Amino acid sequence: MFTTIIGKDLQKAIALLNNNEVVAIPTETVYGLAANALSEEAVVKIFDAKQRPFFNPLIIHVSSVNEIDKYAEIDDLSLKLAKHFMPGPLTLLLPKKEVVPDLVTAGSNKVAIRVPQHELTLKLLQQLNFPIAAPSANPFGYVSPVSAQHVYDGLYNKIPYILDGGNCNVGLESTIVEVENDDVILHRVGGLSIEKIEEVIERKLIIKKSQKDPETSGQLKSHYATSTDLIQGNIEELLKQHQNKKIALLSFQKTYSQIAESDQYILSKEGDLNIAAQQLFKVMRILDEKKYDIILAEIFPNDGLGLAINDRLHRAQASQKS
Ligand code: TXA
Ligand code: MG
Repeated sequence: MFTTIIGKDLQKAIALLNNNEVVAIPTETVYGLAANALSEEAVVKIFDAKQRPFFNPLIIHVSSVNEIDKYAEIDDLSLKLAKHFMPGPLTLLLPKKEVVPDLVTAGSNKVAIRVPQHELTLKLLQQLNFPIAAPSANPFGYVSPVSAQHVYDGLYNKIPYILDGGNCNVGLESTIVEVENDDVILHRVGGLSIEKIEEVIERKLIIKKSQKDPETSGQLKSHYATSTDLIQGNIEELLKQHQNKKIALLSFQKTYSQIAESDQYILSKEGDLNIAAQQLFKVMRILDEKKYDIILAEIFPNDGLGLAINDRLHRAQASQKS
């Protein structure tokens, strides 16, 4: 048991990490639950605090692209992606080097690596002499946290310190890709759009069917779940099917006349998918607290970050039992 403290004290976070403790850290995507990636003793505490099964591997975070080859073999195309998008919401799956503990990769010979784009966390990484392993800082299966308070709500008493770096700018977890031969395989849609990646690699991404890959946690269907039931689809149709219920609407930019305005949560009135992404997890948490009978969510446009928004809503829906 810890008394969990929220603060901006970088040196305190560093001291704890040096002491094999876990610390929640801000990134541009979502908050991470960090520990020394090279210490099994420290990494075990991440799994403990999150109640995360050991078969789910962790992403390691480094301070710059130059650090990657200490921990993994990097091919030319991966390097091109790294130079283009890091720091930023991209994670590369690469053949791991010996120094990375099997616990981090769940026994796989590939390690997931990224450089987060957050000033405070980059400073932190620069002052540590090890990389940090960090999954999203939420109890296993729940919506990822995009503020220090969200981390606190899920993990108080489980961790000593939350480094407060404000609200996450991107608001969705990183996009995960892997170069295989000359193809680039998409493992998780996320905060970096497919279009932007394809522009740089000058070829189409290969979409990996998530069902084939149950070992990757962000891919498990029981993810991003609110405790209130959530259904995604055509709102007009769904409203007809769910009469007499206390309904919350989660929409992109539109309002619906059938429902009181106070029960409608618009992610971006101006129709900007980047803003919608930034708002999504925060709004899902707000709605979950308000004890609606059901949350009805629109299908977002399937381009830019809309694809990742739809993916997260779909998983939130898939995880509900009823
Ligand atoms: O934006 C993000 O990626 C955030 C921030 C904190 O960096 N992290 C995050 O971590 O979303 P997590 O653990 O919630 O999701 C990591 C995903 C999981 O689906 C995991 O299975 C996959 O990355 N992953 C990690 N290492 C892997 C490996 N060696 N092979 C295959 N998948 C891996
Ligand atoms: Mg996660």
